[in-house]
Amino acid sequence: MCGIMGYVGSEPAVDIVLAGLKRLEYRGYDSAGLGIVDDGRLAICKTPGRVKALADDVAKCWAPELRQRALAGIGHTRWATHGAPTRENAHPHLDAKGRLCLVHNGIIENFQALRARLEQEGHSFLSQTDTEVLAHLIGEFYEGDLLRAVCAALKHVEGAFGIAVLAAGKPDEIVVARRGSPIVLGLCETGALVASDAAAIMSLTRNLVYLEDHDVAVVHPGGIDVRSVDNVPVSRPVTVADWDTTAAEKGGYAHFMLKEIFEQPEALTNTLRGRLDPREGTAVLGGLDMTPREINEISRLVLLACGTSLHACQVAAYAFEELADLPVCVEQAAEFRYRNPIVRSTDLVVAVSQSGETADTLAAVREAQRKGARVASICNVVGSSIARESGRGVYLHAGPEIGVASTKAFTCQVLALSMMALKFGRCRRLTREQGLACCQAYEALPGVVRQVLEQHEAVRAIAGEIARANHVFYIGRGTLHPAAMEGALKLKEISYIHAEGYQAAELKHGPIALLQPDVPVVALANDPRSLDKTLGNMQECRARQAPVYAVVAAGETAANAVATRVLEVPRQPPLLASIPAAIVVQLLAYYAALARGCEIDQPRNLAKSVTVE
Ligand code: AGP
Ligand code: GLU
Repeated sequence: MCGIMGYVGSEPAVDIVLAGLKRLEYRGYDSAGLGIVDDGRLAICKTPGRVKALADDVAKCWAPELRQRALAGIGHTRWATHGAPTRENAHPHLDAKGRLCLVHNGIIENFQALRARLEQEGHSFLSQTDTEVLAHLIGEFYEGDLLRAVCAALKHVEGAFGIAVLAAGKPDEIVVARRGSPIVLGLCETGALVASDAAAIMSLTRNLVYLEDHDVAVVHPGGIDVRSVDNVPVSRPVTVADWDTTAAEKGGYAHFMLKEIFEQPEALTNTLRGRLDPREGTAVLGGLDMTPREINEISRLVLLACGTSLHACQVAAYAFEELADLPVCVEQAAEFRYRNPIVRSTDLVVAVSQSGETADTLAAVREAQRKGARVASICNVVGSSIARESGRGVYLHAGPEIGVASTKAFTCQVLALSMMALKFGRCRRLTREQGLACCQAYEALPGVVRQVLEQHEAVRAIAGEIARANHVFYIGRGTLHPAAMEGALKLKEISYIHAEGYQAAELKHGPIALLQPDVPVVALANDPRSLDKTLGNMQECRARQAPVYAVVAAGETAANAVATRVLEVPRQPPLLASIPAAIVVQLLAYYAALARGCEIDQPRNLAKSVTVE
């Protein structure tokens, strides 16, 4: 949940590291810091606030010749877990003797015990962080061989980390290690790079080496030496990054979030690409690596996720039950991880995660594997931890999602899971004709989404009214219930308006007590199967003078007499109704946040990838 960047080579390190940190800010941005080696000594600069504040401090504190001279550096943009976002708690942290500095992503779970032991040995600490304890611990083992000291120290550490370490007097090496938090390495023309995420180094190299858990590595200007924590050489493949660096730019939109909302037709097209077989009326998902027989042996599906990805799973559960006649259990990953879940060998566990690094979901994957379940994943980030550790699955190919509020990942996850349900269904009782109808509906989705996006001004008008509220309800039935929860999450995340997503019938069992003229209700009613009942719920809301903004399927006029405003979206098969509805609620949240002058891409308190439990 933070950004790590490092460089060692023949070019000045400061600007390269700062540029990389800028690309990583979405991973966490409450404070930042930079450490360089110069003339045998370490120089550290760190500050609360964003990378821009750090760059300003660096320009103030380090003379131009120093900034040009230092050829090795590590940097960090932080999302605090232990200790407030202050200068003292910002990374890098030094060891007791100031001989090495360290940046860290993750949580050292036994840091209090380690700190107490070190304090008994005379150590004193400048920060409240767990990270500084690790720096001191490595310093305890450091006698000139940095790799050895890191390996020795990590044997005493419990918890998750991705770290980079720089030592005074070693201007040509960075030591890195990973357990539970991502580290990617790369070689460029002038040296070697270290980062939490490929986006930081893509402009310099596309040839990436992802560390696995328990890997350590020494990064030199001319090479990367990956070892196990027992210091045994390890070979890691080179992954060629397949997306364009410019894709991570805003592409002319005011915010990454708006760009990602509007690029959903393209993202959905990429998710579909090469994965439908209309001839057989099925989906082709080679990454699942499961034979029809193995698919038929599955007795239950367990979907694991958090946040928006959890909502996508809740939508997809309907598809697996309806198309594949499969019982589905949707689990919040942290709940699954800690409740000693019942898992059978005939279960298929599918972890859904845009970043592929969410600690709760990764931990749940490991729990499922410990219990003998077969695990697959649906991720967007190629080579991410969940993708690699599950060993099989489907990549979204939706391109980088930079905005902290997830948008295109949701619709692409629903589509990927729907294709999986189709494939499973065609291995069971779904007919070729039924499968073909699914293929045609999936193929049409990018166009459907494009039509909804064309109504963005109408949505913006409604958002202007919602922006004035302090409390908003979203309601829906069937797959539109998780879509309603997703709408509420989007609004909360970026406009800071309190919102709740409810099953429409549930409102009358208590929450309706909260409805008043200044509490708007967004009613997702574009599934014809549940329109009549949802109309009744809208009546109940209007009877309490609550404004009702209804989303209905094109041509449905019944809501016009009930709702305050009606938005028509292209009619969809019920299992896909959540997709057009999701576009509407994403735009509602975006425009409401804009109207309220909120920071949209990096909302307060949030981070794009929650890599701590
Ligand atoms: C969604 O807008 C939020 N940023 C958050 O709920 C997110 O969906 C959740 O943290 C899961 O992330 P993942 O898909 O990368 O695992
Ligand atoms: N636990 C460390 C801290 O609080 C690292 C947090 C992060 O991953 O940014 O400083």
